[in-house]
Parts: sequence; structure tokens; C-alpha cells
Amino acid sequence: MSDFLNAYCMHTSTCGQLRLADEGRDVTLTGWVWHNRDHGGLIFVDLRDRAGYTQVVFDPDCVTEEEFHAAEHLAREFVIEVTGTVRARGEGSVNPHMATGEIEVLAHSLKVLNTSVTPPFAIEDGIETDELTRMKWRYMDLRRPEMLANLKLRHTVAHAIRCALDERGFMEVETPILANSTPEGARDYLVPSRPNPGSFYALPQSPQQFKQMLMVGGIERYYQIARCFRDEDLRADRQPEFTQVDIEMSFVTADDVMTMMEDVFKEVFAQIGVEQDFPLQRMPWKEAMDRFGCDRPDVRFGMELVDLTDIVRGCGFGVFSKAVEAGNVVKAINAKGAGDWSRGDIEKLADVAAANGAKGMAWIAYTTDGKEKSPIIKFLGDEVHAKIKEAMNVEPGDLLLFAADTFDTASAVLAALRLHMADLLGIERKGHKLLWVVDFPMFKYDEDEKKYAAEHHPFTMIPEEDWDKIESDPMACSSYSYDIVMDGFEAGGGSIRIHNAELQKRVLHRLGLSDDEIEERFGHLIHALELGAPPHGGIALGLDRLIMLLAGRDSIRDVIAFPKTSSASDPMTGAPNAVSAKQLKEVSLRLL
Ligand code: AMO
Ligand code: AMP
Repeated sequence: MSDFLNAYCMHTSTCGQLRLADEGRDVTLTGWVWHNRDHGGLIFVDLRDRAGYTQVVFDPDCVTEEEFHAAEHLAREFVIEVTGTVRARGEGSVNPHMATGEIEVLAHSLKVLNTSVTPPFAIEDGIETDELTRMKWRYMDLRRPEMLANLKLRHTVAHAIRCALDERGFMEVETPILANSTPEGARDYLVPSRPNPGSFYALPQSPQQFKQMLMVGGIERYYQIARCFRDEDLRADRQPEFTQVDIEMSFVTADDVMTMMEDVFKEVFAQIGVEQDFPLQRMPWKEAMDRFGCDRPDVRFGMELVDLTDIVRGCGFGVFSKAVEAGNVVKAINAKGAGDWSRGDIEKLADVAAANGAKGMAWIAYTTDGKEKSPIIKFLGDEVHAKIKEAMNVEPGDLLLFAADTFDTASAVLAALRLHMADLLGIERKGHKLLWVVDFPMFKYDEDEKKYAAEHHPFTMIPEEDWDKIESDPMACSSYSYDIVMDGFEAGGGSIRIHNAELQKRVLHRLGLSDDEIEERFGHLIHALELGAPPHGGIALGLDRLIMLLAGRDSIRDVIAFPKTSSASDPMTGAPNAVSAKQLKEVSLRLL
């Protein structure tokens, strides 16, 4: 590969490759002027390209007067071509922090290939420029070494995944972008069809249905690095268009898919030097919810949720005892190290609880000098308090935070407080920790819509022993599903699929679809399942999230070349844009 780096182009070396062993070589470099300084008649330029940077020296004795004059007038981000000789740097001027720091290139000639106006921000790592400005001038942002490193990592990981899948017999197949709606829980992006007035394509939320069709088509092992589109509220780990490593396999069990995925991760991580123990833990969904309050637990630290429902049943503190009477739960976390916090600081945590639906946040603090502070101890009674202390493993310096609510709300509140406290207490979360969360419930109840929805998607296989509960007790139906969780993020998810048309119809009925709606929206899938669909299953990794975590960034925007803002726009191109009346007419649309 490196042999080709200097082929088909103007330079003979990249700016990252020259070493002491190259001393005496005549080379041609091309790149951008990064830093330049005039030192007593000599001009020093750090010349930067994708591979790194090299110090170039202009000496008036070694270039023409015209070239020296041009060198004096080089400014940041000018594009130049320099020919010169590699020489060892003098004693004391070696730069050990720079890959090419032992050498410099003494220029013999200079060609200015292009000039640059003053850049909108410094091309340096760690700048404080606001993100909107960085996105407006994204191509300048991409010149910064840390952004370039993110894209390189993305390329390396995607390439390693492709190789690992290729070795395992997976075929890359492209699926349509102009498609019909695939339900993954978000709104669709719609595209009007000009030849079919009033009809719309939906951009795929995932290639889910197509990959299942590929299995029915006999492809057996498919993958695709696929762009997906979801019109949903954006966050740091969500973009309206994002990339999945989408995988599907025939004749497999959930264990086969998870084992295959782990083997791929093993190879990819080895290539990029990331440590991880395999096999990965497989944690049932219920256990994740009980212990961490969420289905994507960060298991790099403890502070687990403890269920106190039985202990506080009938106790003197009305908030707790009434919650238990109403069939709700009382749970708590122990934030070790926060017991000496002031009342005011503790009460501020209630905002986090409230933002997650809590009606209040009871707490007990145990100071390091053996005192207890709390708005609720006096109501609990000594016996119940003693049992709580035992259950929560209380020591001086601890702070207990309580949630009394429905299981879902108490879980959400304490899961959020757990992460918030880990941040505030500076709990170390170094390295990466992957695990599987498995066996999600098949259905969830949507309180707003007053109907059942699929927890993953409606194509997920239900264990045979639960089939008779689809109509009678849907919430008790489990599923053959698995999410891969990394450092508290859902890095991917998948399942074994329903390959039986009747079962698929029963699930779609349970989700409230009529026969006609099933035929209209999913007829193609049902027909495919009737025509010898093999048992199949798969997974999709969120490539952007995976790279974000591996690159140690907080936002997937930093690992996407041209991301969108939180209002789904692109400040560089101005998209989305208004279109002309003529264009609207062509697609038979009128604006409201
Ligand atoms: P799911 O909806 O869980 O499953 O998506 C798979 C993975 O894609 C990533 N992801 C996102 N990344 C960035 N921005 C978004 N808006 C976004 N939404 C999802 C997550 C997630 O784990 N078809 C199924 C997969 C299958 O069953 O095989 C699917 O799409 O990392
Ligand atoms: P109150 O009886 O509303 O004054 O609440 C007494 C204490 O219990 C306060 O510290 C509240 O923050 C707390 N509290 C109230 N409701 C809840 C709840 N659902 N879960 C946990 N703590 C609560």
C-alpha cells in the first residue's frame, strides 16, 4: 500500500514518511502550509498533508530570489510543492513529538499551487470554535489532525469489518434507497414520485425488509455498509442519516449470530489495538433493567439499583408505602463518596430525577464523621432504616437516592441519576466494555397510542413457548433478540426473524393492523415467507456510534464527514432548501 502512496501524483514522499534513513535523498513534497516562521533569514514551514507533517527550510542561498520572496509570503493553508534534500536536524532541534522530527527538507524549489484567504478558525486540535462554525466550514475542520484521525479510524474499522465478514462468506449486496416504509420506530423521510403523482417513496430506516428478502432469495450471508434515514429527534448519538453495518444470515440461531459478531469484533479490535475480553457477557434484558435501570448499561462501574419494595412495604413514610400499595416499586442507588455533600447540592439532583419523570427524590446522606442527614429518616422508623442500610451496604460517606414509582419510571430515574453521579463523582470509566443484552420482551405498550408496539421490530421471532400468549398476554412474550452494548451505548441490535407467514400475521394483528393493512404494507414480506423462507436472523451495528466510542468522542458528528445539526440541517450546503414552484409542480405538490 505505501508503495502506491507516492504514485499517480506530484510528490515523491508524503509529509509523514521521511526519517533519518532518508538523509541525502532529493524529494518532492506537496501539502498545506501549516505553521511558518522566519528565523534570522531562514524560513521554516511545517508542511502538512494527510500522512503527517514535515519541516521545510528555505535558505536564500538554496532557492532563487523569486522563490525565497514567495516563501516569505507564504501564509497558513497555502498549497505548495517543494523539492529539496532531506537532511538531519541539528543537535537540539530534533522534535521527539513529531514522527518526522529527526529530519527536515532543505528546499531547492518552491511552487505555490494555490493561495488561501485567512482560515475561519485555526487548523489545530482542541480548538474552542463553536460547532456550527466548524460545520459551515467542514472541509477546513476536516484538515484538523483529530478530525482526520477520526475519519481514518472509521475507514480502518469499516475495512477490517468488511475483511472479517468476507472471510466468513458474507456477500455485500446493495439495497434500494428509494423504498417503502420499514418500521424501526421513527418517522420516514418521504420522496415524491414524479411519474406517480400523490405517491411517495420512504427512505429506508434500515434495510431490514430487503435483507430478509435476500435470505428468501437464497443469499444466505449478506452484509452491507448501509445508509439509514430516520426523522427523529436528534441527540449527540443520533443523526437523521447514519450508517449501519447491516448483517443477515440464514439457518442460524441467536447464539450463532452473536458468536459470529464476537469473532468479527475480536479481529477488528486486534487490528486497532483495543483490548476486550471475549466471550462477551450475555445479560438478560430483565436483569439489565433490574440492576441498571436501562437496557444499555454502562457496566464499567457499580452503583447498581437495589429493590427495596419489600423492605418499605407498610413503612411509616407515606410516599414509599403508598407506592408499594399501588403496585409500584421503591428502588435506590448508593452514591459512595457523596455523603458529605450539602443539602443544597443533594437537592439539585432532584432536577435530574424530575427530568426523567420522578415526582420527588428522597435521599439519606451518611457523613464521613458518622452523622445522618435526610428529609425522610424520621418517617421510616429504626427497623426499616436499619434494613435499608443493610440492603444498600451503607458506610460513612454514602448518599442514598430513592425512587418510588412505576417500574419504568423508577428505572429511568435511577439509571439517569447513576450516570449523573458517576460524572459528578469522577468515577473512572476507562477502556471499553461490551456486553450483550438479550431476550427483550417482544411487545411494549404505547400509552399515548393505547396499543401494543414492537420492542425491537415486528419481524422478531418469539420463542415457541410464548406463541400462545401473543393474543392473550402479549407483555409476557419474550423474543430472540440481542443488543450489543458498549460503554453504556447501544452499538447494535438484532434478532432471529419470524420466517413463518402465519406467525408474522399474528404479530402484525397484535400491533393493531387489519388484514387489508397487512396486505398493503407487508404483503411482499408475507408472500416471501410463504415461499420457502429459511430460518434467518441478523444484526445491525451503528457504525457511527461504534467509531465515536472507539475514538473517545462525545458526539457521532465528530466521526461523520458531513453531519447535520440538531435541527437536521447542513450549514455548509444550506440543505434542506426551498425548491422552486416549478419543481413542486413537477411532483404534484403544493405547500400549505
Ligand atoms: P436498530 O434500530 O436497533 O435496528 O438500529 C441498529 C443500530 O443503529 C444505530 N442507530 C443509529 N445511529 C445513529 N443515528 C441514529 N438515528 C440511529 N438509529 C439507530 C444504533 C442501533 O443499535 N433493522 C434493525 C437491525 C436488525 O434487527 O438486524 C435495526 O435497524 O447503534
Ligand atoms: P413529600 O411528602 O412530597 O414532601 O416528599 C417527602 C420526600 O420524599 C421529599 O424528599 C421528596 O423529594 C421525596 N419524594 C416524593 N415523592 C417521591 C417519589 N415518588 N420517589 C422518591 N422520593 C419521593
